[in-house]
Amino acid sequence: MARKKTIIDFFEKKREGKKITMLTAYDYPMAYLVDQAGIDMILVGDSLGMTVLGYPTTIPVTMDDMIRHSRAVTKAVKQAFIIGDMPFLSYQVSDEEAVRNAGRFIQEAGCEAVKVEGGRERANTIEKILDAGIPVMGHLGLTPQSIHKLGGYRVQGKDQKAATRIIEDAQLLEELGVFAIVLEAVPWQLAKTITETVNVPTIGIGAGPHCDGQVLVIHDLLGFVPGEFKPKFVKRYANLNEIILSALLQYRKEVEGGKFPTLEYSYG
Ligand code: KIV
Repeated sequence: MARKKTIIDFFEKKREGKKITMLTAYDYPMAYLVDQAGIDMILVGDSLGMTVLGYPTTIPVTMDDMIRHSRAVTKAVKQAFIIGDMPFLSYQVSDEEAVRNAGRFIQEAGCEAVKVEGGRERANTIEKILDAGIPVMGHLGLTPQSIHKLGGYRVQGKDQKAATRIIEDAQLLEELGVFAIVLEAVPWQLAKTITETVNVPTIGIGAGPHCDGQVLVIHDLLGFVPGEFKPKFVKRYANLNEIILSALLQYRKEVEGGKFPTLEYSYG
């Protein structure tokens, strides 16, 4: 039986220069396949607001949404390390609420860690969650829960001042004791500098090839999203939209034409 991966494996991979793989998953069948593929970490991302629940942003996602989906994921997984993404307002209001909500991911959903967006402004909160014995993954650069403050989905850290702030935040997160840092939508040169500066594994999304690991939203990778929009950093490894639509059209045609079900698919 496959051994569950732990945070120690990821520090080891960084030291040995081996790449870390991470994907999102939000439900049982997809988590099963991601686990079978040997992916190191699964993030039950609040991106489920957009990929699964049809919201325009991650902001409406609640703790109850996250716990329900995290439970489905943890049931399917044998080897991957599972991180629950703390949704908007689950950790910003008070440290007490933050610890309680982080604890729900571990106690009620069976996750092994949580992810928190932000740098220095979240230092105390991250410290308290870590004090409770819960591993924390940081998230710097484009932080989608602050999308209105950032003025949209834009590359972050483009000028020297903004880049320095992100580097300092990464160093602070390392000092606090996070086990990994997601770097989202930052220039590859900045991601490279951070990756070389901190001993904590960096996981990039739209942050170039030099991070210690990579993450993508699984629906993006599989081409399972409505519409044509595709961010520059997304590589499509499949076109599920096309495959599923073709199956559905075939089903409709066969039912309407009296071709399904034949007796082969009938009791008697
Ligand atoms: O919610 C999410 O899927 C994420 C990843 C993009 C890192 O935060």
